[in-house]
Amino acid sequence: MRPRIPGGRTTVLAALLSLSLAAPIAAAQAQGAPPHRPTSAAADTELPHQYEVTGPTTAAARTALAATGASIDEVHARAVVVTASRAQAAAARQLGYVLRRLPDPPAAKPAAPGAKVKDFPPGYTGYHTYAEETKEIDTLVAKYPAILSKQVIGTSHEGRDILALKLSKNVTKDENEPEVLFTAHQHAREHLTVEMALYLLNELTSKYGSDDRVTKLLDSREIWIVPDLNPDGGEYDISSGNFRMWRKNRQPNAGSNEVGTDLNRNWDFKWGCCNGSSDDPGDETYRGPSAASAPEVQVVSKFVRSRIVNGTQQIKTAIDFHTYSELVLWPFGFTNDETGPGMTQDEHDTFATLGKKMAASNGYTPEQSSELYITDGAIDDWLWGDQRIFAYTFEMYPSSSGSGGFYPKDSVIPKETARNRDAVLQLAEIADCPYRAIGKQDQYCKGKGKG
Ligand code: ARG
Ligand code: ZN
Repeated sequence: MRPRIPGGRTTVLAALLSLSLAAPIAAAQAQGAPPHRPTSAAADTELPHQYEVTGPTTAAARTALAATGASIDEVHARAVVVTASRAQAAAARQLGYVLRRLPDPPAAKPAAPGAKVKDFPPGYTGYHTYAEETKEIDTLVAKYPAILSKQVIGTSHEGRDILALKLSKNVTKDENEPEVLFTAHQHAREHLTVEMALYLLNELTSKYGSDDRVTKLLDSREIWIVPDLNPDGGEYDISSGNFRMWRKNRQPNAGSNEVGTDLNRNWDFKWGCCNGSSDDPGDETYRGPSAASAPEVQVVSKFVRSRIVNGTQQIKTAIDFHTYSELVLWPFGFTNDETGPGMTQDEHDTFATLGKKMAASNGYTPEQSSELYITDGAIDDWLWGDQRIFAYTFEMYPSSSGSGGFYPKDSVIPKETARNRDAVLQLAEIADCPYRAIGKQDQYCKGKGKG
């Protein structure tokens, strides 16, 4: 494990650490199963909070901490930030950790009880609600019908459309071109990722014909963008006027008052295998009752499988956008091993080389996702393990809760979406043969065009 040591933050954390010397010892002991914790019927109406947890310094200790059901939002050399309910925070303290509660997301003016809030609060109105997002997309499709097309690939639990946008020259034809997939917003509170998808849609349409790189790309690739995997969760997160710190979808759970499945623990590859998700519906990382039980996961899985033509998956590379922490992550998440069944040395080297190149362009930190903590049922593990797509997870801006965490102001949107332009173009450009990244195109992509 290579600890990640971001700038100024570490100094603050080190200072905090010196105030809690017992924590590292507790961390070393925190390997076993989490203690039983009661689930409260009121839990769904009680908002979770973020906490800084000093102590867990290894991926194993963080995986044990994640087993409390809290989500781990930031990883630093000697501390992490989690989102936890009261019960999960108590469970983390049971493991021997010291928790410091962080400020809650900014509260808007309290809405009249029962009033339906339709927009983001002041300072955030630049973010798109589901209705605004839909309108923006429809406007673009109407403006650029030759290079942009929209399909409804299914609906969310509450019946909202889940879209796939296709960008390519001759967009109405299924040409024999390498395909690329960008997905966003599995996690409700990660609103900046929808802006990322909208940025790409705007950029790749408006610059076609004037920007050389964009033009070449649309001429030689088919680019798919699924801008919103979790529209129900996103709307729920903003609909009270105060951000709810919501992560999961809005699917009820049989026999429980707790709502929602963590979509990024629900994909059908090594689902629930490895202590990288929770079986408790009240937890932030609840994996659902069975693999791909969430309608949103089913819809996107089916769409991805529909891109298998004559037995060959056409999609070659992918990015799933999340916030936050400024990371470029690659599979596998379910194991700490770099290579093994489903991941040869060349495949791993291709992932790592491309991942580091993309990270060099956006200033994020590149690493295998399990260096953070173990996850099972994540989308990138499925896209690679099941579909053999070179799939990455990007954790976008900011790097820490001090810079806004899940809720940075809308003023950051232009800079923090454009920041990923080069990485996105790189991954789309190399989709004809990702192995070119390690110089092994002749071995793996013989007879294929150079794109
Ligand atoms: N924040 C993300 C999550 O908890 C990180 C996922 C890392 N693992 C992975 N396989 N990409 O879902
Ligand atoms: Zn996420």
